[in-house]
Amino acid sequence: MPSFTSAISVALFASLISPAVSVSYSQSDSYVGSQFNSGFSYQAISDPTNGRVNYVDGAAAASQNLTYASDDTFILRADYTNVLDPAGAGRDSVRIQSNKQYGSNTVMVFNMRHMPQGCGTWPAVWTVAVPWPTMGEIDIVEGVNNQAFNQATLHSSEGCTMPDSRDETGISLTTDCNAAVNGNSGCGVQIPDTLSYGSPFNNNGGGWYAVERTDAFIKIWFWPRNSNNVPTDVQNGDLNVNTDAWGTPFANFPNTSCSITDRFAAHNIIINLTFCGDWAGNVYSTSNCPSSCIDFVNNNPAAFADAYFDFAWIKVYGYTVSLLSFMPIPENV
Ligand SMILES: *[C@@H]1O[C@H](CO)[C@@H](O)[C@H](O)[C@H]1NC(C)=O
Ligand SMILES: *[C@@H]1O[C@H](CO)[C@@H](O)[C@H](O)[C@H]1NC(C)=O
Ligand SMILES: *[C@@H]1O[C@H](CO)[C@@H](O)[C@H](O)[C@H]1NC(C)=O
Repeated sequence: MPSFTSAISVALFASLISPAVSVSYSQSDSYVGSQFNSGFSYQAISDPTNGRVNYVDGAAAASQNLTYASDDTFILRADYTNVLDPAGAGRDSVRIQSNKQYGSNTVMVFNMRHMPQGCGTWPAVWTVAVPWPTMGEIDIVEGVNNQAFNQATLHSSEGCTMPDSRDETGISLTTDCNAAVNGNSGCGVQIPDTLSYGSPFNNNGGGWYAVERTDAFIKIWFWPRNSNNVPTDVQNGDLNVNTDAWGTPFANFPNTSCSITDRFAAHNIIINLTFCGDWAGNVYSTSNCPSSCIDFVNNNPAAFADAYFDFAWIKVYGYTVSLLSFMPIPENV
C-alpha cells in the first residue's frame, strides 16, 4: 500500500507531467560505412550450423575485398572467384558481431540495398547472446537458396510459445519457440511480400527492416524501397523514431506465453553468410537448384557474385522519457 503522502505526490506528479511528458526512442548508435569495422568484430569461427563456409578474419576480409566500406556503403560478401578443393575448407565468407549489446526497449533499423541471393546461400541478420538458446535468438532477416519470402524467427528454450492469433500481417509457421523441438525451427513468421527477400528484394533496391524490443513484445517490420508507407523517420534514419506510427508489424511476438524479459537477454547483432549446412543444405534438393548443395558451392564461384550484403546503415535507438516541463518555469530568469 502506498502511504497517503506518496499517493498524493503520485497523483500530483501525474497531473503535472501528463501533458508535458515526451516518450520516444532516440538514437544511441549509428553504423555507416567504416563504422561497421569499428563497431563490429570479425568472427573467424567454425560454423555451428555445419555450413560449407570458411569464416575469415578482418585482415583477410580486407585483403580479399570481402568487406568494403565507403562513406555510405558497407559491403560484406563471400568469395566468388575460387573453385574449392572438395577436401579443403568451405567458401570464404564473413561473420561479424556488434561489440555492443542491446536489450529491452531498443529499436534497430537496418537500411539494406542488397542481400545475398541464390542457390546454396544462407544469409542472416539476427541478434543473440550466450548461452544459447537460454538467452534467446531473434532472426530478423533470414532465408535459404531461392526462398521467396523473408522469415523472422525466435529461438528459445522449453516454455516459450506464441499465441495462434496475434496482431501481425505475416503468416505464422510454427508457434513453439523451443529450439529443442521441431529440428530447431523456432517460432517463425513469414512475410507474404515478394519484395522481402532474395533477387526481388535486390532488384527493387532493397528496403528497411526494423525490430522493436520491449518487456512485453518483440515486433519486426519491413518496408520495400520506394514503398508509399515507409515512415519518414525510418526512411531518413532520424535521431528519434516513433514506433506507434509504424502500423502493424509483419511479425509480432508477444509475452503472453513466453516471458520476453526472462528469455531474451541483451543481444549482439550478428550478420553472417553461410552456405548449405543445417538449413540451406537440408532443403536444397527441393529448392529448384542444380546438382547438390556442396558440389554447387565448391564448383561454381561465379554463382556467388550476388552473394553479398550492401548496408546503407544500421541505426539503434533506446527508449527515453523526458519530463519536458515537470517544474513550472520561473518567469524572471
Ligand atoms: C548464421 O545465422 C543463423 C541465423 O539464424 C544462425 O542460425 C547460424 O547459426 C549462423 N551461422 C553462423 C555460422 O554464424
Ligand atoms: C571492392 O569491392 C567494392 C564493392 O563491391 C568495389 O567497389 C571495389 O572496386 C572493390 N575493390 C577492388 C580492389 O576490387
Ligand atoms: C508482459 O509484459 C508486461 C509488461 O512488462 C508485464 O506487465 C506482464 O506481466 C508480462 N506478462 C507475462 C505473461 O509475462
